[in-house]
Amino acid sequence: MKAGGRKPRVAVLISGSGSNLQAFIDRAQQDNSPFALAVVISNKADAFGLERARKAAIPSHVVSHKDFQDRESFDKAIHGVLQEYSPDLIILAGFMRILSASFVGKYAGRILNIHPALLPAYPGLNTHQRALDALERWHGCTVHFVTEELDAGPAILQGRVPVLATDDAATLSARVQTMEHIIFPEAATWIASGRVEIVDGQVLLDGKPLAKPVVQDWLEANQ
Ligand code: GAR
Repeated sequence: MKAGGRKPRVAVLISGSGSNLQAFIDRAQQDNSPFALAVVISNKADAFGLERARKAAIPSHVVSHKDFQDRESFDKAIHGVLQEYSPDLIILAGFMRILSASFVGKYAGRILNIHPALLPAYPGLNTHQRALDALERWHGCTVHFVTEELDAGPAILQGRVPVLATDDAATLSARVQTMEHIIFPEAATWIASGRVEIVDGQVLLDGKPLAKPVVQDWLEANQ
């Protein structure tokens, strides 16, 4: 990623606890981090992630969707805040609002989302319960570029976890989140360091087309 000779600047959009934001903060604080966190934006004033941003001395803003009549005007307000910080990459870390096509177009190829399922399986909500109901043996999370279509942009990295017979949605979610915290900063690192780029909708890893996302398994992750 070209960022004019400086570390690429990352904006993180959140709606809640911000455990993924914390994983980015921890990565950014390492000496060899390839990116810097520029700003955190929450659409909820009581999101715990705002406290995490404050502790890490990262500027934060609340832009409540409730203050706007429609999606376009909410997105314009988010864009207005982002312009103050000139981010190279936008991270949707549990940001529970759908972004408009015009917003996505402005930042094409520069917005990453984490989705709690092995896309294309289980787009949308309640993914853990749906995976349990379907008696899946494997579940996980996907980091993908954001396009106009919900949970459908080109995928980069997936974290795969086993579904255990004793699982409920909470235990399965916790296992998936452990993987999220590994693969999300990792995918951003690949982009910030220039290993991953998107050209004409095709993800390239080290210059070669990525036919399928790279899959990281639970066991590998916990060795
Ligand atoms: C994460 O588990 C993420 O996968 C999910 O929200 C959670 C946020 O947790 N995202 C979505 O469901 C997006 N559709 P966090 O606030 O602790 O990072």
